[in-house]
Amino acid sequence: MIFGRVKPLDAILATAERKSLHRTLGWFQLTLFGIGCVIGTGIFVLTAAGAQKAGPGLMLAFAIAGAICIVAALCYAEIAAMIPVAGSAYTYTYSTMGELLAWTVGWALILEYAVAASAVAVGWSGYFSGTILNQFLGIHLPAWLSAAPLALGGAPGGFINLPAVVIAGLITWLLMIGTTESARVNAVLVAIKVIALTAFVALTLPSESFSTDKFNPFLPAGVFGGFGTGVGAVGAAATIFFAYVGFDAVSTAAEETKNPQRNVPIGLIGSLLFCTIFYILVAAGAIGTIGGQPIMGPNGVPFPTGSEELARQCALPQYADALVCSNEALAHVLRAIGWSKVGNMLGIAAFLALPSVILILMFGQTRIFFVMSRDGLLPEKLSAVHPKWKTPYVVTALTGIGVAFAAAFLPVGQLADIANAGTLYAFMMVAVAVMILRRTARDHKRDFRTPALWLVGPLTIAGCVFLFFNLPSAAMLVLPIWGAVGLVIYFAYSRHHSHVGRGIVDADDLGDATLH
Ligand code: ALA
Repeated sequence: MIFGRVKPLDAILATAERKSLHRTLGWFQLTLFGIGCVIGTGIFVLTAAGAQKAGPGLMLAFAIAGAICIVAALCYAEIAAMIPVAGSAYTYTYSTMGELLAWTVGWALILEYAVAASAVAVGWSGYFSGTILNQFLGIHLPAWLSAAPLALGGAPGGFINLPAVVIAGLITWLLMIGTTESARVNAVLVAIKVIALTAFVALTLPSESFSTDKFNPFLPAGVFGGFGTGVGAVGAAATIFFAYVGFDAVSTAAEETKNPQRNVPIGLIGSLLFCTIFYILVAAGAIGTIGGQPIMGPNGVPFPTGSEELARQCALPQYADALVCSNEALAHVLRAIGWSKVGNMLGIAAFLALPSVILILMFGQTRIFFVMSRDGLLPEKLSAVHPKWKTPYVVTALTGIGVAFAAAFLPVGQLADIANAGTLYAFMMVAVAVMILRRTARDHKRDFRTPALWLVGPLTIAGCVFLFFNLPSAAMLVLPIWGAVGLVIYFAYSRHHSHVGRGIVDADDLGDATLH
């Protein structure tokens, strides 16, 4: 039963064939698109959480997470070029491992997309409050309006993160009225982010404050901090993995790419390599200038990020300038080494560019809900399209409510860890799907073949499992609990309403969910 109800690959491909889009994208646009989806809260904000987990070993963490994403990207490239339809990992699983597992992947993708959108909203809120309100307008938003409650890992006096709620609401509204980001806007925002990070690297690495002593000890919490603790270099890698989430969006553009055999892998690998190198340089600049040693607990283990103890320590005057306590890590570093104006400009860059990451993630979420509802696994009312705006406004509004709610009451580190748990599961299933298809659909045309799949596939699976088990235990637990809730819904509703289950396999009903 587990592997039953496989959605026929031929029908999916027939739909994709008929609805195939113009092939207009080259490798450069794809790479830009990838960088646009990827650079966000991970580097601009979570650098602080990463340093609290690993100290200078954060640089190693970026390399580990980047390497795992690159092997995952190689798997994505093959399957995306072969099944270029909406729904990504969910659709790939449906056509290889059947409905039940596809449902679990779709359900986990809610964590990847919606929870990640909440994390980016909270990251944005840090820059909005710190740079725009505080530095420019002299307004100090009280803690109860700008942070999650202390008991949930927020800040002392925190209650609700209002700016994060507002930005989530605003993006929901934009999506409901049919806004998507044009390639030109994306290119401008990518340029803003890349210029900001280049300025950061150019000012920190040669800075007088830079000293190699700050990298000593390099691994204050070791490489492995211990199961469930989420600390050490691999604990930091499991969190900072978030900084790479979103590259899979490139794979969804395979259908619109010229010469996908060459350009999709260049776009995927190129954007990831670019970000990996950049991230390591940024981490080196931040730590080499103001230092990035973790705040240690009494037992010599770093206080967990998002913990009440760490929040209390960070409220003490001696840690006022610590990297690990900052809500706007990169702007803070520049201000601390005497480049306040550039720090503020970097803050503006984050303020301008992070909303586009939220938009891409929420758009991805609505697309997945939309496809699941067209498959009958979710109520069809959810995929209702607004007569005037021509958007799936019901799922968009529901997604927005969920994203705003999580952003209101949870801190960025926890949200990122939860999003990572769901993403790692989806990446793992994609690697499994690619290997299955090599056996079951040997003769199907492949625009791109993952090189050394029998090595790269298992490496992806092992890498995802490895990072998952290095998340903090609370984030690890969310996945099975969330999965159990999903299974209850599946057996109570989706199984009886599934189109595949009811024999409705009209090619028109499958595949690309055109939203606009
Ligand atoms: N990788 C994206 C970010 O860091 C989700 O914001």
